[in-house]
Amino acid sequence: MTQTALNDSLEFLRSKITAAPTLAVVLGSGLGDFGNQVQRPTIVSTSEIPNYPASTVQGHAGRIIFGTIEDGSRKSQQLIVFQGRVHLYESNDVQKVVHPIRVAAGLGAKSLIVTNAAGGINRLYDPGTLMFIQDYINLTGENPLIGNESINTILHKRTTPAMEPALLEKAKTVALKNGIKTKEGIYCWTKGPTYETAAEIRMMATLGADAVGMSTVPEIMAAHQSGMSVLGISCITNMATGISDTKLSHAEVTETANRVKTDFTTLVREIIFSMT
Ligand code: HPA
Repeated sequence: MTQTALNDSLEFLRSKITAAPTLAVVLGSGLGDFGNQVQRPTIVSTSEIPNYPASTVQGHAGRIIFGTIEDGSRKSQQLIVFQGRVHLYESNDVQKVVHPIRVAAGLGAKSLIVTNAAGGINRLYDPGTLMFIQDYINLTGENPLIGNESINTILHKRTTPAMEPALLEKAKTVALKNGIKTKEGIYCWTKGPTYETAAEIRMMATLGADAVGMSTVPEIMAAHQSGMSVLGISCITNMATGISDTKLSHAEVTETANRVKTDFTTLVREIIFSMT
């Protein structure tokens, strides 16, 4: 996508909002409910936005919610919440996948909380586990920075961690304080749309991956490129292929996400309050 295409999206969204967002939240499969936390929301359907890629996956609403969350005297930053995302397997165009992040950055967001549904590779991370993403493995061969950045900037960016360590520590403290059990681990990004084979999962386990999914990494990379601080959270919705006998299904993914949605919402909400 060109800068002009991005500007068209930005111009449209600026006409809809009165305050620029400073914190972006991307909600993964089945985790869209968190959007209901936003008070007096301004809701935009992504299909209205010029040059905005369409999300076609079930469980992905394709809405952007602007506003704040409030609780007594506590008030969050101005939020831009993405209910639903675009996956690489929908278009095979990684620039489309990161368009929402470039939109968030263009509108003023300085931080990103990115979430997903993922398959558990680590046998201790069973369905329902909330896992902070400590680092990632990119098995797709794709990189959203290609053709989008000067090579010097790319090389510089590769020397700093994409995930913000201070934000991760803060999030872990928040989880502990609120009695929400979390884990920490390595997320492995695959292209999809098919789930992995058992042999592929064994390979990923050997490489050190704790969870696998088809999203999030390009968003982390694009956010990092824009200078945003990033926190990633995976909801383990199923055991990855071959780790358990259960047959994988998108229904299991949404069912588990639904089961943990109270903890997930509390966790994200409290992390957001801690970031003001
Ligand atoms: N594999 C890939 N992506 C996923 C999975 C999985 O097991 N679960 C949820 N998203």
